[in-house]
Amino acid sequence: MKIIAYGIRDDEKPYLDKWSDENPDVEVISTSQLLDESTVELASGADGVVAYQQKPYTNEVLDKLGSFGIKFLSLRNVGFDNVDAEAAKRNGIKVSNVPAYSPEAIAELTVTQLMRLLRKTNIFDRKQINGDLTWAPDIADELNQMTVGVIATGRIGRAVIKIYEGFGAKVIAYDVFHNPELEKRGIYVDTLDELFAKSDVISLHAPATKDNEHMLNAETFAKMKDGVYVLNPARGSLIDTDALIKALDSNKVGGAAVDVYEDEVGIFNTDFGSFENIPDERLKNLMKRENVLVTPHIAFYTKRAVKNMVYFAMDANKSLIETGESDKLVDL
Ligand code: COI
Repeated sequence: MKIIAYGIRDDEKPYLDKWSDENPDVEVISTSQLLDESTVELASGADGVVAYQQKPYTNEVLDKLGSFGIKFLSLRNVGFDNVDAEAAKRNGIKVSNVPAYSPEAIAELTVTQLMRLLRKTNIFDRKQINGDLTWAPDIADELNQMTVGVIATGRIGRAVIKIYEGFGAKVIAYDVFHNPELEKRGIYVDTLDELFAKSDVISLHAPATKDNEHMLNAETFAKMKDGVYVLNPARGSLIDTDALIKALDSNKVGGAAVDVYEDEVGIFNTDFGSFENIPDERLKNLMKRENVLVTPHIAFYTKRAVKNMVYFAMDANKSLIETGESDKLVDL
């Protein structure tokens, strides 16, 4: 059996090599290149493909994999919004993901960034570089006094709720699917509008779907409390960036931490050499603000998560090739 793994980074390589040693029945080929029209030929002769990338898995690429008789594509991440679902189905390609490589990794960064915003540590960091060790005017808010509205209570949403509650915050949540445990505890509100109206912090943990694009927009920001904090470690498309910038300008939003950005592909995880060279003015507008924390999609980036992404995706691909089945198949 032969599996080709695309887009393998240096930090993933040791885990892939270890998996390969532990699975001598599998011939593993790997490349640092992403899976696109120019690299798809490398998959010819393989039984399965493992990949991670944010750029689209296009119609052309999936048609080509189909023409090689490849039926299994295993993603090393959670989100599969960049897979052309129609093309995958047409070619009979089953897609798996890694739904839980470490929900805690995402949850921990989310709350870290919220605490940095609330305690204004980035502002104190900047002040002290200039020898300014004063306090005012950067007085903080306390999380234990706040209501946090969590949007989507999948694995990541539930992991983050645990941490918020550990800090003593009141948590309310919205999801179309109710987790029985949270339901029993009366955490859910009936509508997003109710969550917007009651929350001091909005914590986004929803996958990107065609229905929730720009769920935070001018209209929904207007329904929130003045000075609300907004956290997005989920998907850039959930927030209308122009509306966020206006809401920050008017102080409707008091602070924001975004680990994702709607135009991040090709920008995040790239070294531009200087701030000026970053080719995105809206992103730079956000990055320049003291009450906005931008991170380049690093919430997942922990040793445990990276190892699990490689191992779980390779295991899923092998199982699909052997049996046609995996508990990690996604519903495209
Ligand atoms: C995902 O798993 O879908 C993520 O967003 C993390 C990715 C950047 C590896």
